[in-house]
Amino acid sequence: MEVIETIDALRKARARFGQLGLVPTMGYLHEGHLSLVRLARADCTATAASIFVNPTQFSPHEDLSRYPRDLERDLSLLRAEGVDLVFVPSVAEMYPEDFATYVEVGGVTEMLEGAARPVHFRGVATIVCKLFTIIQPDRAYFGQKDAQQTIVVRKMARDLNLPVEVVVGPTVREPDGLAMSSRNAYLTSEQREAAPVLYQALTTTQRRYANGERDGEALRATLRDVLASEPLAEPEYVSAADPLTLRELDIIGSNGVLLSLAVRIGLTRLIDNILIET
Ligand code: PAJ
Repeated sequence: MEVIETIDALRKARARFGQLGLVPTMGYLHEGHLSLVRLARADCTATAASIFVNPTQFSPHEDLSRYPRDLERDLSLLRAEGVDLVFVPSVAEMYPEDFATYVEVGGVTEMLEGAARPVHFRGVATIVCKLFTIIQPDRAYFGQKDAQQTIVVRKMARDLNLPVEVVVGPTVREPDGLAMSSRNAYLTSEQREAAPVLYQALTTTQRRYANGERDGEALRATLRDVLASEPLAEPEYVSAADPLTLRELDIIGSNGVLLSLAVRIGLTRLIDNILIET
């Protein structure tokens, strides 16, 4: 496995590989990340991962400085998965002092995570665009866990004609349903016990849909009600939205529905979702 820190060296190494799958990450890897690596390995002749805690997708008051990091552990996990190439650039390598160009995706960035985290998707689109241009993968793998991110990245790739196929892998969960996340490491044991309420809210609402409920507001109310049963959970938003446009739905129709939520437990902000396809 080659571990590469500079853009020049990455470009030279890239030339030695044919079809390449990329898994972009911010590190502190868990089974969710590794599931994407396995998808890439199964699909592509060579596999690359990137580890870069991207400052431009964090707002000033967010957790950039305390974001968990363990590069040595990450590299040994990726080595064990048979990854060929790992890109671990510094902040100065990706954002030199005179950096001034950003990618802004319109529409689907306005709501949900975009409303809660104003600069977030500008940062995500910019760094993913840079990673695509530097690494030139044929396919790139993203997790359903960050549903809106997958929509934003797909739209960016399409709008900018980037020749990368965006592949989405399923959300990997702990046995009690909590979606795996690097941020779960922030939770105290009491908070960790409360955290499965996100998935419980989603699955309870999914059952109401399965039993015939098609009213968007009724589904959002169910999400809210289940979250209200957990005193440590402070909901930021709940949503029952069109899976493509992310507009809140009054009535669920033939496109199905993306149920999603963001919840604070103590200082930690957790997100999760279930996509119901028809
Ligand atoms: P990060 O949070 O490290 O996640 C990297 C990738 O792993 C993302 O595509 C994310 O959706 C996926 N992932 C995270 N938890 C998952 C889970 N439980 N199951 C399946 N996939 C999961 O998302 C980012 O980094 C950044 O925004 C990035 C795209 C790297 C740009 O900086």
